[in-house]
Amino acid sequence: MRIGLLTGGGDCPGLNAAIRAVVKRGTAEHGVSIMGFHNGWQGVIDGDAQPMSREDVSGILVAGGTMLGTARCHPHKVEGGIEAVIETAQSENLDALICIGGDGTLRAASKVHNAGVPVIGIPKTIDNDVVGTDSSIGFDTAVSIATEAIDRLHSTAESHNRVMVVELMGRHAGWIAVAAGVAGGADIILAPERPFDIDDIVKKIRHRHRHRNFSIVAVAEGAVPAEGSSWKPSETLDAKGNPIAGQIGAQITQAIEEATGFATRLTVLGYTQRGGVPTPTDRLLATRFGVAAIDAAVEGNTGVFTALRGEQVQMRPFKVMAGKTKFVSDDLLDTAIGL
Ligand code: F6P
Repeated sequence: MRIGLLTGGGDCPGLNAAIRAVVKRGTAEHGVSIMGFHNGWQGVIDGDAQPMSREDVSGILVAGGTMLGTARCHPHKVEGGIEAVIETAQSENLDALICIGGDGTLRAASKVHNAGVPVIGIPKTIDNDVVGTDSSIGFDTAVSIATEAIDRLHSTAESHNRVMVVELMGRHAGWIAVAAGVAGGADIILAPERPFDIDDIVKKIRHRHRHRNFSIVAVAEGAVPAEGSSWKPSETLDAKGNPIAGQIGAQITQAIEEATGFATRLTVLGYTQRGGVPTPTDRLLATRFGVAAIDAAVEGNTGVFTALRGEQVQMRPFKVMAGKTKFVSDDLLDTAIGL
């Protein structure tokens, strides 16, 4: 049996742990051959791959990033992309492809599967916005990084009597901002799921500063003002409609300082949330997903993705995702915003 493996979309800590699990389990337990494709779906389109052995994955469990490289490439959006993938699968004599990716990469995986190349997905994204799984690889590490940053911002904010705004990743869902904001004790948490009113923020900060001399505001890059609110940021999206890093954070920082007169400073965590050593939780999740994916491939169970549901790892059909986004739950939002 020959299985292809690729990592697509934004990188995250834990990808190498998943790669390692697929290769170790596949070669040792099942005696299958693994072909690792470089730079996500682009590598499959180009037929750019390397055979992978246990030696290739030795020592990568704790390494951030992906040894295969990644790219934001979706075959169904490339002229002749699907056909090229089919051609590569045939020429490499692949029985299935294991695709590690976020919502975009896995949407492409579903289309490739429907075109006749058996695919199994593994959800990874620091945004944690993949529908159907309780958690995606990379989320726990991003929350740990962001929480530590918020912890550190407390001491400098208090020392300087400042309002500290920290902008966190999360294009469409505010999982990182909410989880790290609660864990880090942020005083105000802004997520895309709950459009904000700058006047409410200013009022809360003024009230808090009657008895404390600093505040922490955690804002997801995808946060938006409520319809009809008095204040509107200038353009915060790029040509593709994605948030421009630092934009919403900078404008909220300026608005707070102008309205309150309190010194207000911005920290944009950006790509630090996607780098470095994965947490033990992400290493465990990635290993479990990698093992489940290669076991499913060997059993011929394809068109599915690995999903954490409670304590269990289950295989779920791609149609469960169906282009949806997993938003932060109302009860978690109420905890975060109502604290
Ligand atoms: O999808 C994960 C993510 O890190 C988002 O949180 C962020 O907005 C985006 O990727 C950044 O994309 P890129 O790596 O292409 O700049």
